[in-house]
Amino acid sequence: MPILQTVGLSKSFLWTGKPRLILDSISFRMEAGTFVCIVGPSGCGKSTWLELLAGITKPDSGQIFYQGREITGSSGFLGYMPQDDLLFPWLNVTENALLPARINNLNLRASRSKIVSLLPVFGLQEHARHLPYQLSGGLRQRAAFLRTVMTETELLLLDEPFASLDAITRLQLQDWLKIITRKLNLSIILVTHDIDEAINLADEIHVFRGQPGRLAGCNTVDDALRNNQTARQALKLRILELVKSGIADADRARDN
Ligand SMILES: Nc1ncnc2c1ncn2[C@@H]1O[C@H](COP(=O)(O)OP(=O)(O)O)[C@@H](O)[C@H]1O
Ligand SMILES: [Mg+2]
Repeated sequence: MPILQTVGLSKSFLWTGKPRLILDSISFRMEAGTFVCIVGPSGCGKSTWLELLAGITKPDSGQIFYQGREITGSSGFLGYMPQDDLLFPWLNVTENALLPARINNLNLRASRSKIVSLLPVFGLQEHARHLPYQLSGGLRQRAAFLRTVMTETELLLLDEPFASLDAITRLQLQDWLKIITRKLNLSIILVTHDIDEAINLADEIHVFRGQPGRLAGCNTVDDALRNNQTARQALKLRILELVKSGIADADRARDN
């Protein structure tokens, strides 16, 4: 059974008084333990799709199934890390990480000890009492990711988690994220507009095209491909072509 499946998900928003189709009947499935990257240009509906999966907004039509159970329009089943890290500035790292437990009425003592055991895994052991402004960008993203992991869900949705980081920190965090998702046995959907990042991280890369947003083309990736420069470059070009032709489609749709 797939861990996640969406069937015909569509969503429109009002645009100068008229509905504008943002996501057009998106069908998608993923197996547990998979690291999926979604690549697409900005404005094609990637964040909207993640918000539907997280249950923050409701689709106009279509269904979402998590482990075989319908969860359309319900939140709390999947962990979601929005594009801005949204750490509360007045709470230290531990208190930020405790928020999911507070919201879900979990045992706070058990959650605190879980955080203590996870802090070294996240490289945050020296920052437990630091406030977000005292952390570097990379540490802030780790703290936000720790908080997402504390939702105690198996499938995490990460919306451009490294977009605001410098190139070196981004590469370090990509390596780290890969190791930690295997260690914690997580399934991941990570949205990015960086094709290299997707190739570094993913088992599967799906291309998101707009507008309206649709999924086009799934590419599987493994370490053999990652380490073969020729194959890697060919995959990058193939994905780039798909993304570019999606942008051309979107421009045509806007002009009509
Ligand atoms: N709440 C909203 N109301 C109206 N339009 C929206 C809303 N949220 C997103 N949009 C529009 O939907 C499109 C897709 O947005 P988004 O999902 O943020 O794209 P992406 O994450 O791929 O950059 C954009 O054109 C955006 O302006
Ligand atoms: Mg977005």
